[in-house]
Amino acid sequence: MNKRLSVKHLLGIKQLTAEDIDLILTTADQFKEVLNRTIKKVPSLRDITIANLFFENSTRTRVSFELAERRLSADIVNFSASSSSVKKGETLIDTVNNILAMKVDMVVMRHPNPGACVFLSRHVDSKIINAGDGAHEHPTQALLDAYSIRERLGSVKGKRVAIIGDILHSRVALSNIYCLQKLGAEVMVCGPQTLVPRYIGSLGVKVEYNLRKALEWCEVANMLRIQLERQDIRYFPSLREYTMQYGVNKQMLDSLGREITIMHPGPINRGVEITSDVADSDQAIILGQVENGVAVRMAVLYLLAGRTDE
Ligand code: CP
Repeated sequence: MNKRLSVKHLLGIKQLTAEDIDLILTTADQFKEVLNRTIKKVPSLRDITIANLFFENSTRTRVSFELAERRLSADIVNFSASSSSVKKGETLIDTVNNILAMKVDMVVMRHPNPGACVFLSRHVDSKIINAGDGAHEHPTQALLDAYSIRERLGSVKGKRVAIIGDILHSRVALSNIYCLQKLGAEVMVCGPQTLVPRYIGSLGVKVEYNLRKALEWCEVANMLRIQLERQDIRYFPSLREYTMQYGVNKQMLDSLGREITIMHPGPINRGVEITSDVADSDQAIILGQVENGVAVRMAVLYLLAGRTDE
């Protein structure tokens, strides 16, 4: 392992080259092998201190990063906004500078504001990893999604991937579009007109408002959650009506006459965007995505720490 990424931080997939993404996925292959050993820990990031700053709720990403860091033998400090001095009015820069004064090398940050990680990267010396910034980007989710498609279908290049649901409020959608296109996949977005941003066609994706047509077109359907917490107005009449128009069930999948792969970044709203029999079926690789997330995040941390020549 002696190749390097072209970037100092992981702020978004937009800034990565196809070679960067390939390097991350190939490095993740090696860490996945490590994770299947009896002793799952390697000393790669010994003496590196990583702060996990979560200003917004998370289950998968927070736990996955922490596990990846522990498997690499890094020292970790965890911070959550709900129990911090942010509640007393402290600014982002002051919070982070106080943490960095304790000699932190890398920062993994989730923040509700788009661009928060870019802002931070301009003001501090540590390496910054975006763990989701508002409705903007979620780069490690897109990387683990690409890794999971490659694992399931052999490659990403040439595959037809439909991203279905609340595109407007999704950071997963934008990062997936950039990542899949850089790897040579064809991408479609599908959802109600009110939840598909008008600019999205300019990114070179197909736009479809009919779920059945999207499922007939794709080899992979990445189902997104309705993000009620980011919706300040009503974008559709009711969840029941949304499910009738855009919910995927087993009967619908079986009627396609060929098997497509179902993905979901989580958390799932069971019975809304997909039924339980779909989420728990062999067609769904949802828990595989979560498993792959640890190896992919280990690869990102390892490559950004720049210890590839050691
Ligand atoms: N997929 C994802 O980002 O999940 P969390 O919000 O639980 O981290």
